[in-house]
Amino acid sequence: MIISFINQKGGTGKSTSAIHLVYWLKERGSVLLIDADAQNSSSIWAETLQIPFEVISDPEDLFDNLPNLANQYDFIVVDGPGGISEVSKSILSRSNIALVPCQPSGLDIRSSNKTLRFIRQAQELRQGLPKAFLYLNRATKGTILLRESQQVLAELDIPTLSSVIYQRQCLADAPGQNITAFQMSGAMADSSADEFDSLFREVFSDAGIEIKPSTQETKSSKPTKSRTQPKSKSRSKSSKSRTSKSKAS
Ligand SMILES: Nc1ncnc2c1ncn2[C@@H]1O[C@H](COP(=O)(O)OP(=O)(O)O)[C@@H](O)[C@H]1O
Ligand SMILES: [Mg+2]
Repeated sequence: MIISFINQKGGTGKSTSAIHLVYWLKERGSVLLIDADAQNSSSIWAETLQIPFEVISDPEDLFDNLPNLANQYDFIVVDGPGGISEVSKSILSRSNIALVPCQPSGLDIRSSNKTLRFIRQAQELRQGLPKAFLYLNRATKGTILLRESQQVLAELDIPTLSSVIYQRQCLADAPGQNITAFQMSGAMADSSADEFDSLFREVFSDAGIEIKPSTQETKSSKPTKSRTQPKSKSRSKSSKSRTSKSKAS
């Protein structure tokens, strides 16, 4: 399965989200990150995290190689580039799921229009694929801007996920430290980790894809010392409620 992060606009959180998704998925199956951005920011990050990755930023190579790679791994996560249309089109022509992070401002949402158009074109050609979802990243709780952005997104014909990733210093620091919020300690990092967990569960649930529980959910052992006991409890609780929601729908 190929899941891509797409937005022609730079700085919306594609690389940050892609790395968090790869880290989240590696407990649930085999996963490969494709860094399709010539800036290579996510591949440097993946290397430190010992996550398998390939850098493929040529549109023809992406088109030709993605299906083969998808046969070798349970999940392929593609970190899309800003700006380069041909690369985005190739990625969309091969993805099962496309995720579009948007920053909560009218200007940013409008500048995602070209990306949404590419998605609609791909869906027209591929009988509705990729399944696509927008979500807000770098939001500030309780602001008018957040509320207004949610209203603007709700009017678009690509669905918006209800999970929101908030602006947090730990996420701004994460690429420099080459770690994810899942590994960081502290209340802020725990909140960001929970938001990503909730976002990813919502994606798979809304896409109608059942996902294996993570090894942390099946075993009591945890991969890092930084996760605290109350955190792990709240996460499995949210997993239960979301699983039942997905079964009901
Ligand atoms: N929720 C967030 N809170 C704080 N900083 C963020 C958040 N999401 C992304 N960033 C920061 O914003 C910048 C752009 O994010 P990045 O993931 O590189 O975007 P893109 O890949 O779309 O260009 C990076 O410096 C990143 O650390
Ligand atoms: Mg990037």
